[in-house]
Amino acid sequence: MSKPAKIAVIVGSLRKDSFNRMAAKAIVAQAPAHLSFEFVEIGDLPLYNQDFDALDPQPAPQLALREKIKGADAVLFVTPEYNRSMPGVLKNAIDVASRPWGKNVFAGKPAAVVSASISALGGFGAHHDLKRVAGYLNMPLLNQPEVYLSSAGDLFAQDGSVKKEDTRKFLKSFVDAFDGWIQKMRG
Ligand code: FNR
Repeated sequence: MSKPAKIAVIVGSLRKDSFNRMAAKAIVAQAPAHLSFEFVEIGDLPLYNQDFDALDPQPAPQLALREKIKGADAVLFVTPEYNRSMPGVLKNAIDVASRPWGKNVFAGKPAAVVSASISALGGFGAHHDLKRVAGYLNMPLLNQPEVYLSSAGDLFAQDGSVKKEDTRKFLKSFVDAFDGWIQKMRG
């Protein structure tokens, strides 16, 4: 019997009509009922500054982000690729939630990475930079299926629905695999 699990969803694009946000929503829409999701917004976070680590109490935006991650059983990252890596806004959020030293809230949380790009490579560079960072932060990562959504501009209708049946099915297989991974990691 599958246990309920709460998943924090972090989208690496702040763009209003982001294809990555559409992909994240399409994944959430097809998830098994025992999974719940919270989109964790990262656009208003201050730029990480190590001086903040010494503050007590910690500033509210940083605290709020860390509490949301702490309260989740797993993390789903959905990211575009900017200049062959993850966008700075996403790296900033990861840096914020990983500190102060010894209080990395990502540690031990099962994670998965999805990338979507308008190009043919599907955000491969960002995807693997992000997996490298998440591995360092001690997150057990789902390896398969790998989700690189290429030509993302052709995949979604204006209302965000997935246009192609094979893409929809693939995203369904992904969320089912992620569920299996979360269940396995939680024991
Ligand atoms: C891009 N884009 C891009 N695409 C890609 O496949 N590889 C890349 O290295 C880059 N680099 C890049 C840099 C910057 C600064 C921008 C603004 C864009 C294009 C990117 O795939 C496209 O804008 C996506 O639509 C971004 O994802 P969202 O916002 O739709 O989720």
